[in-house]
Amino acid sequence: MKNNQLKILLIGSGGREHSLALKLKESNQGPALFIAPGNAGTAQCGTNVQINDTDIDTLLKFAINNNIDLTIVGPEAPLVEGIVDTFNENNLNIIGPDKIGAQLEGSKAWSKAFMEKYDIPTAGYKEFTNSTDAKTYLCTRNDYPIVIKADGLAAGKGVTIAATQSEAFTAIEDAIDNDKFKEAGKKIIIEDFLDGEEASIFAFCDGKTLLPMTPAQDHKAIFDGDKGPNTGGMGAYSPTPLITDSLFKTIQTDVFDKVLKGFKEENIDYRGIVYAGIIIVKGKPLIIEFNARFGDPETQVVLPRLKNDLVSIFQAMTNQTLHTIRLEWKPESAVCVVLASGGYPNAYEKGKEITGTSTFKKNDAIQVIHAGTQRQDKTLVSSGGRVLGVVGIDSSLKKAIDLTYSAVAKISFEKSYHRKDIGHKALARL
Ligand code: AMP
Ligand code: GLY
Repeated sequence: MKNNQLKILLIGSGGREHSLALKLKESNQGPALFIAPGNAGTAQCGTNVQINDTDIDTLLKFAINNNIDLTIVGPEAPLVEGIVDTFNENNLNIIGPDKIGAQLEGSKAWSKAFMEKYDIPTAGYKEFTNSTDAKTYLCTRNDYPIVIKADGLAAGKGVTIAATQSEAFTAIEDAIDNDKFKEAGKKIIIEDFLDGEEASIFAFCDGKTLLPMTPAQDHKAIFDGDKGPNTGGMGAYSPTPLITDSLFKTIQTDVFDKVLKGFKEENIDYRGIVYAGIIIVKGKPLIIEFNARFGDPETQVVLPRLKNDLVSIFQAMTNQTLHTIRLEWKPESAVCVVLASGGYPNAYEKGKEITGTSTFKKNDAIQVIHAGTQRQDKTLVSSGGRVLGVVGIDSSLKKAIDLTYSAVAKISFEKSYHRKDIGHKALARL
């Protein structure tokens, strides 16, 4: 390693982090990359370091001892636990909001109050810490479905769309009385149900300037036709015809401008990613949730379309010079199909040998993104629910879908499962 080479530490181990690692490696600053803990894909972009993503003390020691210039936090848990505060106290550059800013994702009640205060369009809600009060309130409502959410982080399982009062009562009791989500469910919010189509828009923010990225759409349900239980995400595409230019402008003024105003007025020094989970109801955008990080698998279709140097963007965020950057996007479409272990999002088997991934190495139009993978000796095996994301980039959405599925067909592992209809909703719209 050259003495003056820029050293970057990337925290996380999913597809999102492999995608970030690939983009960081493209930088003309030629950074040396360390990924903690990473996966078999990130190992091809840099050095995996066996430190858990929430082991803040050990991550700090690693950053100090290895003269890390810039740390980038992938997942939400370390942010909510205050990794940014710790790194800032040690004068280390890090991308992500501090503990207060991370409440945007870490506490639904905090986030809803922020939205209410700054007039950001979202569903009506009430918050409760007592199940009797919550049920008494529900008895005044007869407009089902209704949405019950655990306040804190619940690994994507904290939201119940209750079709009946009895389902709603169960969700309330599970969270508050039966500790289903531990501390994260001691407070809940009850929210109006919104009926519409969802999109994800991320933004780079340095506390003074907020730059929204190109929109993407995720496929959360496990089965084709958006049926079955929700997962971390089974596929994505970008751009999306759902978010027209005029809708994008409305989202900028009605959502992002107000978020930035809120950060400034609350003295929140937010130098990280704002993820707006947006739902379009009768042509109007409302916020379903905010996250404090990039989404997965949307990152896998957004970053390949970014023309700018990602390292320079992150440096501008730490220096608060984001206003000097103009984001530029490739016009092509990107599509990601997630290959999961059969059984996911419930129980599934690991350790299955994966074949076919090396076919694409030199082909820029296909990226095989690793999520739950590891090497056992030299063999690539599955090690998680979402195993790989196959990303195809082409001149139209239709071509990108076809290219992606032709690549999916070449990869196999025992009991592999993927959705067959990624992007079809958008094709119907076109
Ligand atoms: P969240 O963790 O808040 O993003 O919720 C997970 C998923 O639940 C969202 O992506 C939506 O599909 C659904 N959801 C959450 N809140 C609502 C709502 N108020 N109305 C309809 N669907 C919702
Ligand atoms: N794709 C949804 C998420 O990252 O939360």
